[in-house]
Amino acid sequence: MVLTTATPAAEYVESSTFASRYVRDPLPRFKIPENSMPKDAAYQIINDELMLDGNPRLNLASFVTTWMEPECDKLMMDSINKNYVDMDEYPVTTELQNRCVNMIANLFNAPIESGEAAVGVGTVGSSEAIMLAGLAFKRKWQEKRKSQGKPYDKPNIVTGANVQVCWEKFARYFEVELKEVKLREGYYVMDPVKAVDMVDENTICVAAILGSTLTGEFENVKLLNELLTNKNNETGWDTPIHVDAASGGFIAPFVYPDLEWDFRLPLVKSINVSGHKYGLVYAGVGWVVWRSKEDLPDDLVFHINYLGSDQPTFTLNFSKGSSQIIAQYYQLIRLGFEGYKNIMENCIGNAKTLKEGIESTGRFEVVSKDVGVPLVAFALKDSSKYTVFQISDSLRKFGWIVPAYTMPADAQHIAVLRVVIREDFGRSLAERLISHIKEALKELDSQPSHIIMKDSHVGAVAEAAAEGNKGGEEAKSAERMIQEKVTKQWRNFVEIKRVGVC
Ligand SMILES: Cc1ncc(COP(=O)(O)O)c(C=O)c1O
Repeated sequence: MVLTTATPAAEYVESSTFASRYVRDPLPRFKIPENSMPKDAAYQIINDELMLDGNPRLNLASFVTTWMEPECDKLMMDSINKNYVDMDEYPVTTELQNRCVNMIANLFNAPIESGEAAVGVGTVGSSEAIMLAGLAFKRKWQEKRKSQGKPYDKPNIVTGANVQVCWEKFARYFEVELKEVKLREGYYVMDPVKAVDMVDENTICVAAILGSTLTGEFENVKLLNELLTNKNNETGWDTPIHVDAASGGFIAPFVYPDLEWDFRLPLVKSINVSGHKYGLVYAGVGWVVWRSKEDLPDDLVFHINYLGSDQPTFTLNFSKGSSQIIAQYYQLIRLGFEGYKNIMENCIGNAKTLKEGIESTGRFEVVSKDVGVPLVAFALKDSSKYTVFQISDSLRKFGWIVPAYTMPADAQHIAVLRVVIREDFGRSLAERLISHIKEALKELDSQPSHIIMKDSHVGAVAEAAAEGNKGGEEAKSAERMIQEKVTKQWRNFVEIKRVGVC
Protein backbone atom coordinates (compact mmCIF):
# COMPACT_ATOMS: atom_id res chain seq x y z
CA MET A 1 0.00 0.00 0.00
CA VAL A 2 1.35 3.44 -0.92
CA LEU A 3 0.48 5.77 1.92
CA THR A 4 1.84 8.99 0.46
CA THR A 5 1.72 10.55 -2.96
CA ALA A 6 4.17 13.37 -3.47
CA THR A 7 2.56 14.72 -6.66
CA PRO A 8 -0.34 13.53 -8.78
CA ALA A 9 1.14 10.33 -10.14
CA ALA A 10 1.99 10.39 -13.82
CA GLU A 11 3.01 7.05 -15.23
CA TYR A 12 6.55 8.12 -16.03
CA VAL A 13 9.11 10.15 -14.12
CA GLU A 14 10.79 12.68 -16.38
CA SER A 15 14.52 12.11 -16.45
CA SER A 16 16.51 15.14 -15.37
CA THR A 17 18.61 17.35 -17.63
CA PHE A 18 21.96 15.84 -16.77
CA ALA A 19 20.79 12.29 -16.43
CA SER A 20 19.29 12.46 -19.90
CA ARG A 21 22.83 12.17 -21.21
CA TYR A 22 22.64 8.57 -20.02
CA VAL A 23 18.95 7.76 -20.01
CA ARG A 24 16.85 8.29 -23.11
CA ASP A 25 13.54 6.84 -21.90
CA PRO A 26 11.56 8.24 -19.02
CA LEU A 27 11.50 6.03 -15.95
CA PRO A 28 8.30 4.15 -15.16
CA ARG A 29 6.77 5.28 -11.87
CA PHE A 30 4.79 2.17 -11.05
CA LYS A 31 6.85 -0.72 -12.34
CA ILE A 32 10.45 -1.72 -11.90
CA PRO A 33 12.32 -0.61 -15.09
CA GLU A 34 12.93 -3.35 -17.66
CA ASN A 35 16.65 -2.60 -17.94
CA SER A 36 19.52 -1.61 -15.73
CA MET A 37 21.20 1.79 -15.98
CA PRO A 38 24.72 3.01 -15.19
CA LYS A 39 25.31 3.72 -11.51
CA ASP A 40 26.21 7.35 -12.10
CA ALA A 41 22.97 7.86 -14.03
CA ALA A 42 20.93 6.39 -11.17
CA TYR A 43 22.77 8.64 -8.74
CA GLN A 44 22.23 11.73 -10.86
CA ILE A 45 18.52 11.09 -11.39
CA ILE A 46 17.82 10.58 -7.72
CA ASN A 47 20.04 13.42 -6.64
CA ASP A 48 18.31 15.80 -9.03
CA GLU A 49 14.87 14.80 -7.84
CA LEU A 50 15.86 15.15 -4.19
CA MET A 51 16.90 18.76 -4.79
CA LEU A 52 13.23 19.61 -4.58
CA ASP A 53 13.02 18.42 -0.96
CA GLY A 54 13.16 21.12 1.69
CA ASN A 55 16.43 22.00 3.40
CA PRO A 56 16.52 20.02 6.70
CA ARG A 57 18.42 22.81 8.46
CA LEU A 58 15.59 25.25 7.68
CA ASN A 59 12.94 22.78 8.76
CA LEU A 60 11.83 24.39 11.99
CA ALA A 61 8.93 21.95 12.31
CA SER A 62 11.01 19.10 13.58
CA PHE A 63 12.78 18.29 16.81
CA VAL A 64 14.92 15.77 15.00
CA THR A 65 18.67 16.33 14.66
CA THR A 66 19.86 17.66 11.33
CA TRP A 67 23.53 18.21 12.01
CA MET A 68 26.29 16.08 13.55
CA GLU A 69 30.04 16.36 13.60
CA PRO A 70 31.91 14.91 10.58
CA GLU A 71 33.74 12.44 12.85
CA CYS A 72 30.41 11.00 13.88
CA ASP A 73 29.13 11.00 10.29
CA LYS A 74 32.18 8.88 9.49
CA LEU A 75 31.50 6.43 12.32
CA MET A 76 27.93 6.11 11.12
CA MET A 77 28.93 5.46 7.51
CA ASP A 78 31.53 2.91 8.69
CA SER A 79 28.84 0.92 10.51
CA ILE A 80 26.01 1.34 8.03
CA ASN A 81 26.30 -2.33 6.99
CA LYS A 82 25.92 -3.75 10.50
CA ASN A 83 22.57 -5.24 11.42
CA TYR A 84 22.08 -4.41 15.07
CA VAL A 85 20.22 -7.61 15.80
CA ASP A 86 23.27 -9.78 15.00
CA MET A 87 24.50 -9.29 18.53
CA ASP A 88 26.77 -12.29 18.45
CA GLU A 89 28.55 -10.93 15.37
CA TYR A 90 28.73 -7.38 16.69
CA PRO A 91 29.15 -7.73 20.45
CA VAL A 92 30.86 -4.37 20.75
CA THR A 93 27.86 -2.60 19.25
CA THR A 94 25.64 -4.41 21.76
CA GLU A 95 27.97 -3.33 24.53
CA LEU A 96 27.73 0.30 23.35
CA GLN A 97 23.94 0.08 23.41
CA ASN A 98 24.07 -1.25 26.98
CA ARG A 99 26.36 1.56 28.02
CA CYS A 100 23.92 4.09 26.54
CA VAL A 101 21.03 2.47 28.46
CA ASN A 102 23.02 2.66 31.70
CA MET A 103 24.04 6.28 31.16
CA ILE A 104 20.49 7.35 30.34
CA ALA A 105 18.99 5.43 33.28
CA ASN A 106 21.48 7.12 35.59
CA LEU A 107 20.72 10.50 34.06
CA PHE A 108 17.05 9.85 34.93
CA ASN A 109 17.98 8.83 38.49
CA ALA A 110 17.00 5.17 38.21
CA PRO A 111 17.47 3.50 41.61
CA ILE A 112 20.34 1.22 40.58
CA GLU A 113 23.38 0.36 42.60
CA SER A 114 26.72 1.44 41.21
CA GLY A 115 27.93 -1.20 38.78
CA GLU A 116 24.44 -2.68 38.42
CA ALA A 117 22.99 -2.86 34.89
CA ALA A 118 19.93 -0.78 34.13
CA VAL A 119 16.83 -2.19 32.40
CA GLY A 120 16.16 -0.61 29.02
CA VAL A 121 16.51 -0.89 25.30
CA GLY A 122 17.38 1.13 22.21
CA THR A 123 14.48 1.63 19.80
CA VAL A 124 13.83 3.25 16.45
CA GLY A 125 12.43 6.32 18.21
CA SER A 126 10.13 7.33 21.03
CA SER A 127 7.14 5.83 19.25
CA GLU A 128 8.51 2.29 19.45
CA ALA A 129 9.71 3.02 22.99
CA ILE A 130 6.18 4.05 23.96
CA MET A 131 4.64 0.93 22.39
CA LEU A 132 7.00 -1.22 24.47
CA ALA A 133 6.41 0.69 27.69
CA GLY A 134 2.65 0.62 27.10
CA LEU A 135 2.75 -3.13 26.47
CA ALA A 136 4.63 -3.70 29.71
CA PHE A 137 1.99 -1.74 31.67
CA LYS A 138 -0.85 -3.56 29.94
CA ARG A 139 0.68 -6.99 30.63
CA LYS A 140 1.40 -6.18 34.29
CA TRP A 141 -2.12 -4.90 34.82
CA GLN A 142 -3.63 -7.98 33.12
CA GLU A 143 -1.54 -10.36 35.22
CA LYS A 144 -2.65 -8.66 38.40
CA ARG A 145 -6.32 -8.65 37.39
CA LYS A 146 -6.15 -12.34 36.44
CA SER A 147 -4.60 -13.23 39.76
CA GLN A 148 -7.45 -11.38 41.50
CA GLY A 149 -10.06 -13.16 39.38
CA LYS A 150 -11.24 -9.82 37.96
CA PRO A 151 -12.07 -8.94 34.33
CA TYR A 152 -9.08 -7.79 32.31
CA ASP A 153 -10.60 -6.93 28.95
CA LYS A 154 -11.08 -3.17 29.25
CA PRO A 155 -7.70 -1.56 29.92
CA ASN A 156 -7.42 2.19 29.62
CA ILE A 157 -4.67 4.77 29.75
CA VAL A 158 -5.04 8.37 30.93
CA THR A 159 -3.21 11.16 29.05
CA GLY A 160 -3.69 14.80 28.13
CA ALA A 161 -5.39 15.59 24.80
CA ASN A 162 -2.03 17.09 23.82
CA VAL A 163 -0.30 13.70 23.46
CA GLN A 164 1.66 12.94 20.31
CA VAL A 165 0.00 10.68 17.76
CA CYS A 166 2.10 7.68 18.85
CA TRP A 167 -0.06 7.36 21.99
CA GLU A 168 -3.17 7.17 19.83
CA LYS A 169 -1.40 4.53 17.76
CA PHE A 170 -0.52 2.56 20.86
CA ALA A 171 -4.12 2.72 22.05
CA ARG A 172 -5.55 1.63 18.72
CA TYR A 173 -2.99 -1.03 17.81
CA PHE A 174 -2.92 -2.62 21.26
CA GLU A 175 -6.59 -2.19 22.14
CA VAL A 176 -6.34 0.11 25.10
CA GLU A 177 -8.91 2.87 25.59
CA LEU A 178 -7.31 6.32 25.53
CA LYS A 179 -8.89 8.59 28.12
CA GLU A 180 -7.82 12.12 27.33
CA VAL A 181 -7.94 15.07 29.69
CA LYS A 182 -9.24 17.97 27.62
CA LEU A 183 -7.27 21.19 27.33
CA ARG A 184 -8.68 24.69 27.67
CA GLU A 185 -7.76 28.11 26.35
CA GLY A 186 -4.54 29.25 28.03
CA TYR A 187 -3.81 25.75 29.49
CA TYR A 188 -2.34 23.39 26.94
CA VAL A 189 -1.07 20.48 29.03
CA MET A 190 -2.65 17.68 31.06
CA ASP A 191 -4.19 18.93 34.29
CA PRO A 192 -2.98 16.43 36.95
CA VAL A 193 -6.11 16.87 39.07
CA LYS A 194 -8.40 15.99 36.18
CA ALA A 195 -6.11 13.15 35.12
CA VAL A 196 -6.23 11.51 38.54
CA ASP A 197 -10.02 11.95 38.60
CA MET A 198 -10.21 9.92 35.39
CA VAL A 199 -8.16 7.02 36.78
CA ASP A 200 -10.18 3.88 37.54
CA GLU A 201 -9.40 0.25 38.33
CA ASN A 202 -8.81 -0.44 34.63
CA THR A 203 -6.16 2.26 34.18
CA ILE A 204 -2.87 0.67 33.22
CA CYS A 205 -0.94 3.94 33.69
CA VAL A 206 -1.09 7.71 33.48
CA ALA A 207 1.22 9.09 30.81
CA ALA A 208 2.72 12.52 31.48
CA ILE A 209 4.73 14.45 28.92
CA LEU A 210 7.99 16.18 29.67
CA GLY A 211 7.89 18.62 26.81
CA SER A 212 4.53 18.77 25.07
CA THR A 213 4.87 18.45 21.30
CA LEU A 214 2.56 21.42 20.83
CA THR A 215 4.05 23.99 23.18
CA GLY A 216 7.17 22.38 24.71
CA GLU A 217 5.71 22.79 28.20
CA PHE A 218 6.67 20.28 30.91
CA GLU A 219 3.72 18.64 32.64
CA ASN A 220 3.73 18.64 36.43
CA VAL A 221 4.84 15.05 37.09
CA LYS A 222 5.61 15.74 40.74
CA LEU A 223 2.07 16.88 41.49
CA LEU A 224 0.71 13.96 39.47
CA ASN A 225 2.81 11.57 41.55
CA GLU A 226 1.46 13.09 44.79
CA LEU A 227 -2.19 13.03 43.74
CA LEU A 228 -1.96 9.52 42.33
CA THR A 229 -0.23 8.24 45.47
CA ASN A 230 -3.17 9.55 47.51
CA LYS A 231 -5.68 7.95 45.17
CA ASN A 232 -3.79 4.64 45.22
CA ASN A 233 -3.78 4.73 49.03
CA GLU A 234 -7.51 5.40 49.16
CA THR A 235 -8.50 2.75 46.61
CA GLY A 236 -5.87 0.07 47.06
CA TRP A 237 -4.90 0.33 43.37
CA ASP A 238 -1.32 0.82 42.29
CA THR A 239 -1.69 2.87 39.12
CA PRO A 240 1.78 3.80 37.84
CA ILE A 241 3.15 6.70 35.76
CA HIS A 242 5.02 6.66 32.47
CA VAL A 243 6.90 9.82 31.46
CA ASP A 244 7.07 10.58 27.76
CA ALA A 245 10.30 12.58 27.81
CA ALA A 246 10.76 12.35 24.01
CA SER A 247 12.12 15.90 23.88
CA GLY A 248 12.54 16.95 27.50
CA GLY A 249 14.58 13.92 28.62
CA PHE A 250 17.78 15.37 27.23
CA ILE A 251 16.99 18.92 28.42
CA ALA A 252 15.70 18.79 31.99
CA PRO A 253 18.66 16.86 33.52
CA PHE A 254 21.10 19.43 32.15
CA VAL A 255 19.19 22.69 32.49
CA TYR A 256 16.74 22.05 35.33
CA PRO A 257 18.49 19.45 37.51
CA ASP A 258 16.27 20.22 40.51
CA LEU A 259 13.05 19.60 38.66
CA GLU A 260 11.65 16.28 39.89
CA TRP A 261 10.02 14.44 37.03
CA ASP A 262 11.92 11.17 36.73
CA PHE A 263 12.64 8.01 38.79
CA ARG A 264 13.07 10.20 41.88
CA LEU A 265 9.25 10.00 41.95
CA PRO A 266 8.23 6.52 43.15
CA LEU A 267 5.28 5.99 40.79
CA VAL A 268 7.37 6.66 37.68
CA LYS A 269 8.03 3.15 36.36
CA SER A 270 9.27 3.86 32.84
CA ILE A 271 10.54 6.75 30.73
CA ASN A 272 11.12 7.14 27.01
CA VAL A 273 13.38 9.64 25.29
CA SER A 274 14.21 10.27 21.63
CA GLY A 275 17.93 9.97 21.00
CA HIS A 276 17.30 11.63 17.66
CA LYS A 277 15.82 14.78 19.20
CA TYR A 278 17.84 16.52 21.91
CA GLY A 279 19.95 13.35 22.25
CA LEU A 280 21.55 14.93 19.15
CA VAL A 281 21.61 11.93 16.81
CA TYR A 282 20.16 11.74 13.27
CA ALA A 283 16.69 10.17 12.87
CA GLY A 284 16.34 6.54 13.95
CA VAL A 285 17.05 6.15 17.66
CA GLY A 286 15.03 6.27 20.87
CA TRP A 287 15.30 4.76 24.33
CA VAL A 288 13.03 3.28 26.94
CA VAL A 289 14.21 2.57 30.46
CA TRP A 290 12.36 0.89 33.31
CA ARG A 291 12.73 1.64 36.97
CA SER A 292 13.61 -2.00 37.75
CA LYS A 293 13.45 -5.55 36.41
CA GLU A 294 10.09 -6.05 38.14
CA ASP A 295 8.50 -3.40 35.93
CA LEU A 296 9.17 -5.30 32.71
CA PRO A 297 7.20 -8.59 32.60
CA ASP A 298 9.47 -11.50 31.73
CA ASP A 299 7.19 -13.00 29.13
CA LEU A 300 7.53 -9.96 26.87
CA VAL A 301 11.23 -10.62 26.46
CA PHE A 302 12.10 -13.13 23.74
CA HIS A 303 15.21 -15.24 23.86
CA ILE A 304 16.72 -16.22 20.53
CA ASN A 305 19.74 -18.36 19.88
CA TYR A 306 19.80 -18.72 16.11
CA LEU A 307 22.36 -15.96 15.63
CA GLY A 308 24.78 -17.44 18.15
CA SER A 309 24.44 -17.28 21.92
CA ASP A 310 21.27 -16.65 23.90
CA GLN A 311 20.04 -13.13 23.19
CA PRO A 312 17.17 -11.42 24.96
CA THR A 313 15.17 -9.05 22.73
CA PHE A 314 12.29 -6.74 23.46
CA THR A 315 11.61 -4.69 20.34
CA LEU A 316 8.87 -4.55 17.74
CA ASN A 317 11.30 -4.93 14.85
CA PHE A 318 13.94 -7.56 14.34
CA SER A 319 16.62 -6.13 12.02
CA LYS A 320 17.74 -2.52 12.24
CA GLY A 321 20.87 -0.43 11.65
CA SER A 322 23.63 -0.01 14.20
CA SER A 323 24.78 3.45 13.16
CA GLN A 324 22.39 5.42 15.32
CA ILE A 325 23.31 3.48 18.45
CA ILE A 326 26.98 4.08 17.78
CA ALA A 327 26.27 7.75 17.12
CA GLN A 328 24.38 8.04 20.41
CA TYR A 329 27.34 6.59 22.25
CA TYR A 330 29.62 9.04 20.41
CA GLN A 331 27.52 12.02 21.53
CA LEU A 332 27.34 10.84 25.13
CA ILE A 333 31.09 10.44 25.50
CA ARG A 334 32.08 13.28 23.19
CA LEU A 335 29.87 15.90 24.85
CA GLY A 336 29.58 14.54 28.38
CA PHE A 337 27.33 16.30 30.87
CA GLU A 338 29.18 19.56 30.28
CA GLY A 339 28.71 19.53 26.50
CA TYR A 340 25.00 18.69 26.62
CA LYS A 341 24.46 21.40 29.24
CA ASN A 342 26.20 24.02 27.08
CA ILE A 343 24.22 23.08 23.98
CA MET A 344 20.87 23.00 25.75
CA GLU A 345 21.50 26.31 27.49
CA ASN A 346 22.49 27.83 24.18
CA CYS A 347 19.27 26.55 22.56
CA ILE A 348 17.28 28.09 25.40
CA GLY A 349 19.12 31.41 24.89
CA ASN A 350 18.30 31.32 21.18
CA ALA A 351 14.65 30.54 21.93
CA LYS A 352 14.59 33.61 24.19
CA THR A 353 16.01 35.83 21.42
CA LEU A 354 13.40 34.53 19.01
CA LYS A 355 10.60 34.91 21.53
CA GLU A 356 11.55 38.53 22.21
CA GLY A 357 11.74 39.30 18.50
CA ILE A 358 8.32 37.76 17.91
CA GLU A 359 6.81 39.67 20.83
CA SER A 360 8.37 42.90 19.56
CA THR A 361 6.12 42.77 16.49
CA GLY A 362 3.19 43.35 18.86
CA ARG A 363 1.13 40.95 16.74
CA PHE A 364 1.54 37.64 18.53
CA GLU A 365 0.85 36.05 21.87
CA VAL A 366 3.57 33.56 22.80
CA VAL A 367 1.91 30.46 24.28
CA SER A 368 5.05 28.42 25.01
CA LYS A 369 6.67 28.74 28.44
CA ASP A 370 10.17 29.82 29.42
CA VAL A 371 10.74 26.53 31.27
CA GLY A 372 10.42 23.67 28.82
CA VAL A 373 11.70 22.47 25.49
CA PRO A 374 13.42 25.32 23.60
CA LEU A 375 10.72 26.24 21.14
CA VAL A 376 8.50 29.21 20.51
CA ALA A 377 4.79 28.61 19.88
CA PHE A 378 2.83 31.74 19.13
CA ALA A 379 -0.70 32.71 18.13
CA LEU A 380 -1.92 35.79 16.26
CA LYS A 381 -3.60 38.28 18.56
CA ASP A 382 -5.95 39.20 15.75
CA SER A 383 -6.68 36.64 13.07
CA SER A 384 -9.66 38.38 11.50
CA LYS A 385 -7.70 39.44 8.42
CA TYR A 386 -5.35 36.53 7.93
CA THR A 387 -4.30 33.50 9.88
CA VAL A 388 -1.18 31.75 11.09
CA PHE A 389 -1.63 29.31 8.21
CA GLN A 390 -1.09 32.13 5.72
CA ILE A 391 1.94 33.30 7.65
CA SER A 392 3.31 29.76 7.51
CA ASP A 393 2.77 29.76 3.73
CA SER A 394 4.45 33.16 3.35
CA LEU A 395 7.50 32.00 5.29
CA ARG A 396 7.89 29.11 2.85
CA LYS A 397 8.84 31.68 0.23
CA PHE A 398 11.94 32.46 2.26
CA GLY A 399 12.73 28.75 2.60
CA TRP A 400 11.50 28.39 6.21
CA ILE A 401 9.30 25.50 7.18
CA VAL A 402 7.29 26.72 10.16
CA PRO A 403 4.24 24.58 10.90
CA ALA A 404 0.88 26.06 11.84
CA TYR A 405 -1.71 23.94 13.60
CA THR A 406 -4.77 24.09 15.79
CA MET A 407 -4.74 22.91 19.39
CA PRO A 408 -6.57 19.71 20.39
CA ALA A 409 -9.93 19.68 22.20
CA ASP A 410 -11.14 21.83 24.01
CA ALA A 411 -8.81 24.51 22.72
CA GLN A 412 -9.27 23.77 19.03
CA HIS A 413 -10.16 27.37 18.26
CA ILE A 414 -6.56 28.38 19.00
CA ALA A 415 -4.16 28.15 16.06
CA VAL A 416 -0.41 28.60 16.53
CA LEU A 417 2.89 28.65 14.69
CA ARG A 418 5.77 26.73 16.21
CA VAL A 419 9.51 27.12 15.79
CA VAL A 420 11.67 24.39 17.29
CA ILE A 421 15.14 25.53 18.31
CA ARG A 422 17.72 22.85 17.61
CA GLU A 423 21.45 22.97 18.12
CA ASP A 424 21.98 24.11 14.52
CA PHE A 425 19.57 27.06 14.79
CA GLY A 426 21.90 29.83 15.87
CA ARG A 427 21.20 33.41 16.93
CA SER A 428 21.83 34.87 13.46
CA LEU A 429 19.24 32.50 11.98
CA ALA A 430 16.83 33.56 14.74
CA GLU A 431 17.37 37.22 13.80
CA ARG A 432 16.92 36.42 10.11
CA LEU A 433 13.68 34.57 10.83
CA ILE A 434 12.32 37.49 12.85
CA SER A 435 12.99 39.86 9.97
CA HIS A 436 11.26 37.46 7.55
CA ILE A 437 8.26 37.18 9.86
CA LYS A 438 8.04 40.99 9.84
CA GLU A 439 8.23 41.03 6.05
CA ALA A 440 5.55 38.36 5.79
CA LEU A 441 3.27 40.39 8.09
CA LYS A 442 3.84 43.53 6.04
CA GLU A 443 2.97 41.73 2.85
CA LEU A 444 -0.16 40.16 4.31
CA ASP A 445 -1.22 43.49 5.82
CA SER A 446 -1.09 45.09 2.42
CA GLN A 447 -3.33 42.47 0.83
CA PRO A 448 -7.14 42.43 0.95
CA SER A 449 -8.50 39.97 3.52
CA HIS A 450 -9.07 36.47 2.18
CA ILE A 451 -11.19 35.35 5.07
CA ILE A 452 -14.81 35.23 4.03
CA MET A 453 -17.45 34.88 6.69
CA LYS A 454 -19.92 32.50 5.11
CA ASP A 455 -21.96 32.17 8.27
CA SER A 456 -24.30 35.18 8.28
CA HIS A 457 -24.76 35.10 12.05
CA VAL A 458 -21.03 35.19 12.72
CA GLY A 459 -20.71 37.85 10.04
CA ALA A 460 -23.39 40.00 11.65
CA VAL A 461 -21.93 39.69 15.14
CA ALA A 462 -18.47 40.43 13.75
CA GLU A 463 -19.76 43.51 11.98
CA ALA A 464 -21.53 44.73 15.06
CA ALA A 465 -18.45 44.19 17.18
CA ALA A 466 -16.32 45.94 14.60
CA GLU A 467 -18.64 48.93 14.61
CA GLY A 468 -17.95 49.22 18.26
CA ASN A 469 -21.63 49.29 19.24
CA LYS A 470 -21.28 46.10 21.26
CA GLY A 471 -19.09 46.31 24.27
CA GLY A 472 -17.29 43.99 26.68
CA GLU A 473 -18.58 40.42 26.81
CA GLU A 474 -20.46 40.49 23.51
CA ALA A 475 -17.48 41.78 21.61
CA LYS A 476 -15.35 39.08 23.19
CA SER A 477 -17.77 36.32 22.27
CA ALA A 478 -17.96 37.70 18.73
CA GLU A 479 -14.20 37.64 18.51
CA ARG A 480 -14.13 34.06 19.75
CA MET A 481 -16.76 33.03 17.25
CA ILE A 482 -14.73 34.52 14.43
CA GLN A 483 -11.63 32.74 15.70
CA GLU A 484 -13.48 29.42 15.88
CA LYS A 485 -14.93 29.86 12.41
CA VAL A 486 -11.60 30.77 10.90
CA THR A 487 -9.69 27.96 12.56
CA LYS A 488 -12.39 25.46 11.56
CA GLN A 489 -11.99 26.52 7.97
CA TRP A 490 -8.23 26.20 8.20
CA ARG A 491 -8.43 22.96 10.09
CA ASN A 492 -10.19 21.40 7.12
CA PHE A 493 -7.52 22.83 4.89
CA VAL A 494 -4.76 21.43 7.09
CA GLU A 495 -6.39 18.00 7.11
CA ILE A 496 -5.67 17.90 3.40
CA LYS A 497 -2.31 19.64 3.42
CA ARG A 498 -0.58 18.41 6.55
CA VAL A 499 2.61 20.11 7.64
CA GLY A 500 4.28 17.53 9.86
CA VAL A 501 4.31 18.35 13.56
CA CYS A 502 6.58 15.76 15.01
C1 LIG B 1 6.07 14.12 23.27
C2 LIG B 1 6.39 13.21 22.12
N1 LIG B 1 6.25 11.88 22.26
C3 LIG B 1 6.55 11.02 21.27
C4 LIG B 1 7.00 11.48 20.05
C5 LIG B 1 7.34 10.48 18.98
O1 LIG B 1 8.72 10.45 18.88
P1 LIG B 1 9.56 9.74 17.73
O2 LIG B 1 9.51 10.66 16.58
O3 LIG B 1 10.92 9.65 18.35
O4 LIG B 1 8.95 8.41 17.46
C6 LIG B 1 7.16 12.86 19.85
C7 LIG B 1 7.63 13.38 18.56
O5 LIG B 1 7.71 14.56 18.35
C8 LIG B 1 6.86 13.75 20.91
O6 LIG B 1 7.00 15.08 20.78
